[in-house]
Amino acid sequence: MTDSAIVTEKLTRRFGNLIAVDGVDLTVAAGQFFGFLGPNGAGKSTTIKMLTGLLAPTSGRATLLGLDFASNPIEVKRQIGVVPEGMGLFERLTGAEYLEFVGRMYGLDRPTTQRRSEELLDFMQLADRPKTLIADYSHGMQKKIALAAAVIHGPRILFLDEPFEGVDALAAGALKALLGRMTERGVTIFLTSHVLEIVERLCSHVAIIAKGRLVAQGSLEELRAGIAGEEGSKTTLEQIFLSIVGQDGSQRPNLEELSWLM
Ligand SMILES: Nc1ncnc2c1ncn2[C@@H]1O[C@H](COP(=O)(O)OP(=O)(O)O)[C@@H](O)[C@H]1O
Ligand SMILES: [Mg+2]
Repeated sequence: MTDSAIVTEKLTRRFGNLIAVDGVDLTVAAGQFFGFLGPNGAGKSTTIKMLTGLLAPTSGRATLLGLDFASNPIEVKRQIGVVPEGMGLFERLTGAEYLEFVGRMYGLDRPTTQRRSEELLDFMQLADRPKTLIADYSHGMQKKIALAAAVIHGPRILFLDEPFEGVDALAAGALKALLGRMTERGVTIFLTSHVLEIVERLCSHVAIIAKGRLVAQGSLEELRAGIAGEEGSKTTLEQIFLSIVGQDGSQRPNLEELSWLM
């Protein structure tokens, strides 16, 4: 039972009349590198916020590491890390100050916090500008410090919302290496992306969400090999994704309407 890192049952979130996440049933096994894929506005960030306690579900529930989130929020939060959509950094601190604050918040002692903070700043190549405030970091640097803060306490599940957005190729390479190493050590990684290639390259398991509903879920091999459709026809991950994002032509925007621009 506790071999599942994340289980959701009919997880739902409404914003007024809009159902942003609609009865999602997800299962993520411990140690999986899980990709949560979907076009803009599909409900990925809303799902991650519900799985990390940043947003309460309207209905349904989430179980993390065998614990019901709603009834064990502190115990769950101790064991997870998250880089949410807005990152939520304290921008008037330097990177080192921020990591010290976060480490101490998680209850790490001072020497451990200090050591981990130095190692993380080094690894993220943020160590050479110790006096720079996070407010003056580039977007990519802010992503890196947010990731460092999300792992300083050694979480068992790491949630990342669009982690590669605005990160340069060099930093992305280092980040992928770090995430790969973490999964080897048994950490579960739950990553959202609207880019199929990123998920295909990194993840072993994938779910696809569109308009709040889960449309596919399985191992990358299973989804690549194709899901037998109703008439026995096979649909691959790429076909599913392209049909959702509309690049199969059926939903391509009409450029005629923008003729005044061209
Ligand atoms: N706080 C909010 N209030 C109202 N609508 C929201 C709010 N957050 C998200 N939404 C809506 O919910 C839908 C899903 O959003 P989101 O989860 O951010 O999508 P994704 O991360 O997949 O791009 C969108 O239509 C978005 O406009
Ligand atoms: Mg999002």
